Parts: sequence; structure tokens; C-alpha cells
Amino acid sequence: NTFVVIMAGGIGSRFWPISRVNYPKQFHDVLGTGESMIQTTVKRFRKVCPPENVYVVTHRDYAALVREHLPELSENQILQEPIGRNTAPCIAYACYKIAKKNPHANIVIAPSDHVILREDAFISCVHEGLQATATANILVTLGIKPTRPDTGYGYIQFLPDSEHVLKKVKTFTEKPSLEIAQMFIDSGEFVWNAGIFIWNAQTILQAFREYLSDMAETFEEGKAAFDTDKEEAFINKAYSHCRNISIDYGLMEKANNVYVILGDFGWSDLGTWNSLYSLSEKSSEGNVIDGNVLLYDVHNCIVKTPQNQLVVLQGLENFIVAEHDNVLMVCRREDEQKVKDFVSDAKAIK
Ligand code: GDD
Ligand code: MG
Repeated sequence: NTFVVIMAGGIGSRFWPISRVNYPKQFHDVLGTGESMIQTTVKRFRKVCPPENVYVVTHRDYAALVREHLPELSENQILQEPIGRNTAPCIAYACYKIAKKNPHANIVIAPSDHVILREDAFISCVHEGLQATATANILVTLGIKPTRPDTGYGYIQFLPDSEHVLKKVKTFTEKPSLEIAQMFIDSGEFVWNAGIFIWNAQTILQAFREYLSDMAETFEEGKAAFDTDKEEAFINKAYSHCRNISIDYGLMEKANNVYVILGDFGWSDLGTWNSLYSLSEKSSEGNVIDGNVLLYDVHNCIVKTPQNQLVVLQGLENFIVAEHDNVLMVCRREDEQKVKDFVSDAKAIK
């Protein structure tokens, strides 16, 4: 009765130029493990549910990539969106579809592009969550001890409770400003939201009715179309008027039955070049190199370039040098948040 939903519709723009609109991060072997991130993600859940209970939600344009990377999935397990409307509609689609046949399904929602180094610790957190949501009407999320005031995450404040694995969430703040993130970190009362959720189908449907009622209505009305030849037409219509909103802003910030499980499983969302830098093994000069390079006086750089191209670098410190598919980017590591702007500017000149 357990289902896993993998969200794989993002474009990973902060990982440009490796991550591209036509080939986003989740389909790359970013860590050099021999598998794409989405393949590793699906494999990780083998201990959680049978393979036929894994659903991948993605943009229609990525369906072919999903089939190629995950040939074991049947067509009905690949949920195709006509447009990206962020994670709330993506989760609504999957949960309403699953609930139609399995009204009491226990569902894990996971991103397709995160690194988890200690798999056993992760799986045991997921099992704790599933055990709880099987009988309680609660929304469970996994929390990570924060290390910096990163404004790209959700921040969770919880009621300390040393007796229970699940801790009641007091506040959930999605992507705060830098000042507020710093305050959260200083208080010591907050953890990062890992973006991995666990709930029962009935609980999440109830939460949609309460906090995203327009979306609930749309999917409630159209659910007869699921698992029939009318599904695609219904989804096209539903998405054409669905709001563009994440589950974090739309639901998790508002709900008052949220619980967090604190996880320590070597998590990284591999959101940016620096997160890859900090995860990777460094040379004695502090460099992370994936490519065919000659380095002279180069320190604390991350270089990812094609093997068939010799790259010579001299006198460089704290830089990102990345080349992929006819784009070369050289950017100071401290300015990595600007990568998002490069992507839109580059699109404009294309
Ligand atoms: N199918 C589908 N459709 N998937 C999507 C869409 C969409 O429209 N938009 C995003 N996704 C997928 C992404 O591919 C990713 O795997 C996951 O959903 C989360 O989306 P992100 O866009 O990466 O979210 P975020 O990183 O800004 O924030 C979320 O994750 C953080 C942790 O990494 C939030 O949940 C934060 O609270 C959290 O801290
Ligand atoms: Mg992310």
C-alpha cells in the first residue's frame, strides 16, 4: 500500500551549463557514479515499495528521457505534465491518481535530483514516517540540520521532543530573506526542509481541500479520467488553469498537522556548483576536477569539461569552469547565484 512519487520536472537552472532545459540535472551523472541522479533516486526506493508503485511526474518533453533512464517503468507510471506549474499541481496530480485506486495509500514524495550518502539512515527515516502516517492524519517532512543561512530552502521550527522521532512543527517558512534565515540559524530552533514528504492519501487530499481548494476541485471533478484514455485531455485542461505554486508555499506553510523527522543521512540537494564542490574530493590545491586539464597556480576551483578537450588554466582561484554542449562558463564561486541570470540572458540572445 506504499507508493513513491518522484518529482522530475525541474530544469535545474543553477547548474547551467551542465543542466540544460533539454537535458536537466536529474538526467545527468553529476557525481560521476555511473548513474543519472534519477536512476539513483529510483534505486534508493527499492526498499520502500514494489517497483510498480513508483510514479514519476515530469514535463511531457522529458517523458522520452524518463523512459530511457528508467525502462522498467510502465507508461502508466510516467505522469506527464503539459506545462511546469511547480510542485503543488505535480503532487496533486500524483496523489489524486493514486488515491482513485488506493484510497488509503501511504505516499512518499521525493525530488529526483538529491544526493543521499547514507542510504540506510535515509530508508529508516522513511519507514518511521510511513509507520506514523499509516494511522495518523499528519503531513510528515524530513528535516536537515542547517549549516548556513541559505535562502533557497524551507525552514522548519519544531517543538523539541526527545521522546518521539516525530516532532510537531511550529512554523514552516519557505525561502526566507537572508536576515531572517540568519536569525533562524542563530536561534538554533530550525532545520531545513529536505523537500521529501510522507503522508496518507486521505490526509493530503484533505489538505488540498483546505489550503488549495481550487486545485482540489479541479482534480476531484476530473478524477474519473485517471487511468483511462481521457487522462491526457483532462490533464491538459486542468493544467491550463492551475495556479503556479509550490507545495511549500501553497500547503506546508499553512497546515497545522505537520511533523518533522530529523534526518542525518548525508543529504545535499546539489542545487548549485558550490554544493557539488563541497561534496567532492579535492586535490591538495583544493581543486575539484572532472576533465582533461593542465593546471598552473590554480586553487580551490571546480572544473567540469569534456574529456576530449584539453583545458589549460593558469592563475585562477575560487572559480567555476564548466563546459557542456557548446557553452563555456567561467564564474567566480562566490557569485554562483548569478548562474540563473546567465541562463535567461543566454536564452535571450539565442
Ligand atoms: N513534475 C514536476 N513539475 N516537478 C517539478 C516541478 C514541476 O513543475 N517543479 C519542480 N519540480 C521538481 C524538481 O525537479 C525537484 O526535484 C523538486 O521538484 C523540487 O523542486 P525545486 O524547484 O528544486 O524546489 P526548491 O529546491 O526551490 O525548494 C524545495 O526543495 C528544498 C530542498 O532542496 C522546497 O521544498 C524547499 O522547502 C526545500 O528546502
Ligand atoms: Mg531543489
